Order: sequence, then C-alpha cells, then structure tokens
Amino acid sequence: MVDLKGQYENLKSEIDTALLKALSEACFILGPNVQAFEQETADYLGAKHAIGCASGTDALHLPLLAAGIKAGDEVITTAFTFIATAEAIRYVGAIPVFVDIDPETLNIDTSKINIAISDKTRAIIPVHLFGQPADMDEIRSIAVHHGLFVLEDCAQSFGSAYRKRMTGAIGDAGAFSFFPSKNLGCYGDGGLIATNDDEIARQVRIYRNHGSSEQYHHDVIGFNSRLDELQAVILRIKLKHIDEYNQKRLRIAQSYNRLLTGSELQTPLIPDDRDHIFHQYTLLSDRRDQIREAVIARQIACAVYYPIPLHQQKAFADTHQEPLPITESVSRRCLSLPIYPEMTEQQVQAVCEAVLGA
Ligand SMILES: Cc1ncc(COP(=O)(O)O)c(C=O)c1O
Repeated sequence: MVDLKGQYENLKSEIDTALLKALSEACFILGPNVQAFEQETADYLGAKHAIGCASGTDALHLPLLAAGIKAGDEVITTAFTFIATAEAIRYVGAIPVFVDIDPETLNIDTSKINIAISDKTRAIIPVHLFGQPADMDEIRSIAVHHGLFVLEDCAQSFGSAYRKRMTGAIGDAGAFSFFPSKNLGCYGDGGLIATNDDEIARQVRIYRNHGSSEQYHHDVIGFNSRLDELQAVILRIKLKHIDEYNQKRLRIAQSYNRLLTGSELQTPLIPDDRDHIFHQYTLLSDRRDQIREAVIARQIACAVYYPIPLHQQKAFADTHQEPLPITESVSRRCLSLPIYPEMTEQQVQAVCEAVLGA
C-alpha cells in the first residue's frame, strides 16, 4: 500500500547524514532534535504547543488524562476507526459512546452527536479518517454548548486543513501518529500532541516523562512516552517535504476519481472547504469482495479499513452499544487502494483497470 523503501531512497543521503550526526552527538532522550521538531511542528500546524510522545495511541491517551477524563465519564467518538481511538478512552476508565458516520465523508455524523450526549458526556473525539477533515465547526459548536473537551484524532491527517485551519489545532488538542505508513511517518513508533491550551500542554509534558517536570521530582504517576531522538531526526527531514507529498497524494486521488467515474463505485468526496490529504483512497461498492479478489489477482495491494467496526469488537462487549447502520454498511463495502507520493500515473491506471475489470 505504500513504498517506504522508495521514499527512503529519495531522502537517503539527507537522512543518513543527519542520523550519523545525532549518533555522534549522543544526546538520545528529549534531545535537540525532539525540541526542534516540536517547534517546527507547532509552527507548521499554527498551534501554540506541540509535544512529542511515543505513539499516536499515547497522543490520544495523555490529553484525556490531562483533561481530567476519568472512570465513568462518557466520550463520544466514531466506531469506524482504528481501535486506538477508543482504547485511549478505556485507558482512563471512561466509556466510548459510538455515533454513526456520514455516508459520504465517512467521518462522525455531527447531526447525530446531540442525541448521544448525556449528563456523563465529557469529551468528543472526532477522527479525520483517511485524511478527510471532520466537520470541526459543528463539533466545536456542540462542544462549547455542552462544555465538552474536543480531542482531534489526527493519526491519518497530518497536513490536512478544515476551512484553512490545520487539523490538530482546531479542537482543544490534536493527536498525531508517526507510524511508518502514515503521511508523515518515522522509522518506528512516534506520536505528538498539539494544543493551544497552556495547562493541557504542561500536564501532557509531565505525563509523558514519568510525571516529572523537574528531574527526580514526580508530581503524578506518569509514563515513559517520549518521542525518540533518532525518530525526530527523520521526522524533521520529512516534515520539509510533507506539503509536496500531500499534494502528490491529492493528484493521485483526483486521477483515481476521474478514471473510476461513471462506474457503480462510490469514490471519495473532495469538499471545497477542506484539504483532504488522502492518507487512504477508499472506495465503496456492494461488490467489494469481488473487486478485492480481482485486484489481488493482478498482484496489486489493497486493504479493508476497517472490516469490523469498534462497537462490534469483542474488546467493547462490556459497554452498551446501539446498532450503527451506516458504519456497518460502510464496513461491508469499503476498499482502500494503494496511494503514496511515489506512485506513477501508469500504476494508477493499472489499479483502475483491475478495479473496473472485476
Ligand atoms: C485513526 C488512528 N488513531 C490512532 C492510531 C494509533 O497510532 P499509533 O499506531 O501511532 O499508536 C492510528 C494508527 O494506526 C490510527 O489510524
């Protein structure tokens, strides 16, 4: 689905030189590259603070702790996402309340949030799924009205924008993942929290480093969740290219949309007021399994993100969940095709031939 080797080859001399320099400087934990990357990312996102951590999962967990979300609280989110979104809710003892999705953007359906709000609701986690920004103005307005904390799950949306504002800097906090296959990916695990809130930032910094703001003084029980210095070296180099990478992904998605138009497939929406950065290019079709087999038969990769929505996962069997008809239908019909900046027009055409020939 991605060409990690190809991307490394293109940046090899820059990355190798920078890694060798960091190795010789031998400052491996919260060193100068983590600090510089945090500042560069804050500037890029237009956020007051950016705090590196060990993974996207931790980037969701730590702000929930900092916001005081606790056992028995309810957090509204989508079931059409990777499990980490809701795992983080369970880590703090809170209960995920899953709301159905919009059939076109595949993000949380904001018209269904109000009916899911109870006197226990404390937060909303919208996910900018596949790089498509969720409807943040509507989410913010519901949150302000009910006094809820908004944590954006930006694991798949680095560089995407909603009405000219970068995702991750719109809600109370944003959680990013640098898992290798993400649009901005490192060579291992990594994550980052963005926020404009000084208190959330202060607490997240403490939680990520053993509950400590000063060495050997521990205010709370925290975690070992620091962004690795060597990963920060790689991320600083890739950050300089992220807009170019995202532009290339958009162009590939536009080619896919053009070549697949007129078929019975539902191709992704590209709204005028949002900069979708196509972490995934995901089609919907009633013939999903047939198309998948035809694509695989031509030795082309494809994937189903996500075959079992979270409200139907065993891991959430202990929480009461309502049926989610759109989510369930989309899980049965979705298929993601390869998309990455290095992909050529011929490769896109070959994928489309396989899809249309199914
Ligand atoms: C939507 C979403 N949220 C959270 C995560 C968790 O990120 P990580 O794998 O870096 O912990 C991912 C990563 O796969 C994701 O896709």
